[in-house]
Amino acid sequence: MRTPEEYFEGTMDMTEPRKTVMLAHKYFQMENVNTGRAVDLGAGTGRDTLFLLRSGWKVCALDEKQQSIDIILDRVEPEHKAGLEVQVTNFSNMTLPKEVDLINASFSLPFCKPEHFEHCWKTIVQSLAIGGRFCGHFFGEHDEWASDPELTIHSLEGIKDLFKPQFKIEYLQIEQGLIPNFDGQMKQWHIYHVVAKKQT
Ligand SMILES: C[S@@+](CC[C@H](N)C(=O)[O-])C[C@H]1O[C@@H](n2cnc3c(N)ncnc32)[C@H](O)[C@@H]1O
Repeated sequence: MRTPEEYFEGTMDMTEPRKTVMLAHKYFQMENVNTGRAVDLGAGTGRDTLFLLRSGWKVCALDEKQQSIDIILDRVEPEHKAGLEVQVTNFSNMTLPKEVDLINASFSLPFCKPEHFEHCWKTIVQSLAIGGRFCGHFFGEHDEWASDPELTIHSLEGIKDLFKPQFKIEYLQIEQGLIPNFDGQMKQWHIYHVVAKKQT
């Protein structure tokens, strides 16, 4: 597995947002909601944060690494600076604002240690407003990294249970196979891509 520093180096210029965050934004637009308050958990080098800011959202970008936040502060356009807040925090002890409209966690929650995942997920659910959305990714049991005890891995049933009963899953794609990593190295992935709406 690459280090976070290698990930930052390799993705520093990437601008294409993840499909899940674009979908969540589109689902809001279909309800005539064009913007709101978002949190980007494990924001990395900011591809999703920048997309949301450019789309008019106010964004809190959170990451445990100061380097991630420094890169995002460097990348954000002057006209979007006012819409950006940042937090250097670990998922294990984060607190989030209330009544958030969108929580995005692209390829980040699997890196939350299993013993901290329950707190992390509870914090996410409590932070979201009713009608708000979660979008992001989880790793499944057939992922090459699934045996790493530091990672949180989910079964399909586990994913469905996470979102029960408060959410409606609007999009769930399971991607499995040998697919290049950010650096072009092939890796066996097992990914759940999710968008879900908080109903109650
Ligand atoms: C694979 S990167 C994904 C970055 C970005 N969301 C993207 O899609 O490109 C995972 C990110 O989560 C952050 N991260 C990992 N574990 C974390 C934790 N326990 N608390 C907060 N951030 C964490 C890492 O520093 C890194 O920026």
